[in-house]
Amino acid sequence: MSSNDTILTMENITKTFGPVKALTDVNLSVDRGEIHAICGENGAGKSTLMNVLSGVYPYGSYSGKITFDGKECKYHTINDSEADGIVIIHQELALSPFLSIAENIFIGNEQAKGGVIDWDKTRAEAKKLLDRVGLPEDPDTKVMDIGVGKQQLVEIAKALSKDVKLLILDEPTAALNDEDSAHLLDLVRQLRDEQGVTSIIITHKLNEVAAIADNVTIIRDGSTVGVMYVTPETPLDQEELIRKMVGRPLHNLYPNHPSNTPGEEYLRVEDWTVHHPLDAERVIVDLT
Ligand SMILES: Nc1ncnc2c1ncn2[C@@H]1O[C@H](COP(=O)(O)OP(=O)(O)O)[C@@H](O)[C@H]1O
Ligand SMILES: [Mg+2]
Repeated sequence: MSSNDTILTMENITKTFGPVKALTDVNLSVDRGEIHAICGENGAGKSTLMNVLSGVYPYGSYSGKITFDGKECKYHTINDSEADGIVIIHQELALSPFLSIAENIFIGNEQAKGGVIDWDKTRAEAKKLLDRVGLPEDPDTKVMDIGVGKQQLVEIAKALSKDVKLLILDEPTAALNDEDSAHLLDLVRQLRDEQGVTSIIITHKLNEVAAIADNVTIIRDGSTVGVMYVTPETPLDQEELIRKMVGRPLHNLYPNHPSNTPGEEYLRVEDWTVHHPLDAERVIVDLT
C-alpha cells in the first residue's frame, strides 16, 4: 500500500521502567481502515506500546517517533490522544459500576445545557450509541447489572461518542464467552466496513486473529519480530505466527525445566471462598 494509506506509524519506540527495558526500537505501521492485530506472549510489551501511543506514558518518557493522521504526536495525557480520535479500551475495564450506562458513556463529556446536565439528551444520545453497538439495553441500567460482554460494548459506545478514528482494544475478549466474543468482533468489523474506523486489537486467541485481522505485527521480548499480511487468498498461517511469537520451534513449545522435582510443601490454601466484589451473593472461588 502507498504511504497515503498509513494512518499510524510508530518508529523506533524504546521504553524503559527503571532497569526493565520493556520496548526496544519497536516499529508499527497501521493502514487507514484496517484491523491490525498485535500478537506476542505475555510480557512481550504489547500493552506498553499501546500506553505509549495513547499518552498514558507521556511524550518524553519514551524515545522514538509517533505519527498519526499525518501529524507527529507528542501526547502528554490520554486526553491529548483522545482529542485526535485515538481511544484505548484497556484490559481492565474502566467503567464505574454504580453509575448508569448513559452516565458512563458521557462521563467527562457531559451533555449539558446552560451548565446543567441535560438528562433527556444524555439518555437519547446514549440510546443512539447503544443501537450502533447492538446493545438493546436501557441507558438508565447500572453498569454493575450487566455482564462483562455488555460492558465491553458500553466501552465501545463511549469510544464512538468521542468520534473515534483509531480504536485500540487490549485483549477485549479475554473475559468473554464465545457468543459475546463473536458479537464484539462482528462490531469491530462493522465499524471498519461501515464507518471506516481503524482498529488495533491485541489478543491471544489466534483463531480470532485469523478471522478478523488484515495485518498482524508480532512482538517478542520488546522488539518487533515481523509483520504478517492476511488476505482472503493468503489466510493467516497460525503455526508461523506462533513460531514468531515464541521464537523457538513448535515441538519445543513447552520446554522441560531442569529443576521440576517438587520439594516440600510451600503453600497451602484451605476452605477458601471468594465473593464477587460487587455482588456479595455470588461466589467466584469456592474450595471448601
Ligand atoms: N509499570 C511498569 N513498571 C515496570 N515494569 C513494567 C510496567 N509495565 C510493564 N512492565 C514490564 O514491561 C514488560 C512488558 O509488559 P506489557 O507491556 O504489559 O506486556 P504484554 O502486554 O505484552 O503482556 C514486562 O516485562 C513487564 O513486566
Ligand atoms: Mg498486556
